[in-house]
Amino acid sequence: MRIGVIGTGRIGTVHANTLSRHREVGSLILTDADPARAQRLAHRLGETAAPGVDEIFRWGVDAVVITTATPAHAELIGRAARSGLPVFCEKPIALDLPGTLQALGEVAAARTVLQMGFQRRFDAGYAGAREAVRAGRLGRLHTVRALTCDQSPPPADWLPLSGGLFRDTLIHDFDILRWVTGHEVRDVYAAGSDAGPAMFREAGDVGTGAALLTLDDGTLATASATRVNGAGYDVRMELAGERDTVVVGLDDRTPLASTEPTGPPPADKPWTGFLERFAPAYEAELCAFVEVLLGRRANPCDGHEALQALRIAEACEVSRRERRAVAMAEIPAAALPGID
Ligand SMILES: NC(=O)c1ccc[n+]([C@@H]2O[C@H](COP(=O)([O-])OP(=O)(O)OC[C@H]3O[C@@H](n4cnc5c(N)ncnc54)[C@H](O)[C@@H]3O)[C@@H](O)[C@H]2O)c1
Repeated sequence: MRIGVIGTGRIGTVHANTLSRHREVGSLILTDADPARAQRLAHRLGETAAPGVDEIFRWGVDAVVITTATPAHAELIGRAARSGLPVFCEKPIALDLPGTLQALGEVAAARTVLQMGFQRRFDAGYAGAREAVRAGRLGRLHTVRALTCDQSPPPADWLPLSGGLFRDTLIHDFDILRWVTGHEVRDVYAAGSDAGPAMFREAGDVGTGAALLTLDDGTLATASATRVNGAGYDVRMELAGERDTVVVGLDDRTPLASTEPTGPPPADKPWTGFLERFAPAYEAELCAFVEVLLGRRANPCDGHEALQALRIAEACEVSRRERRAVAMAEIPAAALPGID
């Protein structure tokens, strides 16, 4: 099979690498708004570069992987759907709900596949936590604490394209919270701080954000994120129940220093970023996409899942701006046929 990859930046490079090595994938066509970038990667991988998106569709591919900056996702999903092509797209689908619903409507109308890039669903730690919850090993879950801390901030010119900390980063925590617990969020209270570097204020974003989320069974969850965390890249989830507690993301590379005399030593080589921390998960989700294309497995993360995660992020944005609790019922869920 031949796959088109649109967007050859940080994550596009990772996914193109995985697909290029995959024995079921014959070839790739790579493109980017910066054609020289696509060419360089194509040269390195021994694949073909196309001068633009039009060629991806004109030259003919069996599926499309969308790894552009977020504002281009929805239109490209629609275009691929209208061409009857299955799509893997990085999160989020769009920066707003109307764009998300529009793209989902196109996918539903074309009856094609849209797999979303929530790679934590393929991480061994999160899968273990889900299994522990599902098997009842924790007893009744009472508290979940999720966090995502980037070590160093993204480039300043990338921030305005990201949709902000809640839609871009915490969306991962919201998705995985639903996936691990099997519960929906009922309401949220969120706050953000722009007290760090000026680039966040200038982009209308916050550098640190936190949300208190109440799930539909009464479980309380907190999710927090920051863009500047000197100790390293720290992504964790603690789940505490009446019988036991488990933690995802606690290993010999977790960037934590205990102040206890008998505590564990600090990590020798703390995680520095998502590309190394989630490398196996990124590979696994693309291999899953190939399996979906071959009809060997069901879509592990469809557009509806991405819509739910974005709705939670939207609720958090309303909450932090209006400084009030926001019920998920306030956030529109669907306005188009074919979407539940
Ligand atoms: N799942 C994850 O953990 C994860 C991690 C990083 C990024 N992402 C997502 O992946 C996407 C890309 O992020 P990134 O960090 O790779 O950004 P990046 O800036 O490194 O790369 C984006 C690339 O897209 C290209 N591009 C932008 N608009 C385009 C268009 N219309 N047509 C063709 N090319 C276009 C840019 O030239 C750039 O090369 C974002 O949506 C981001 O949210 C997901």
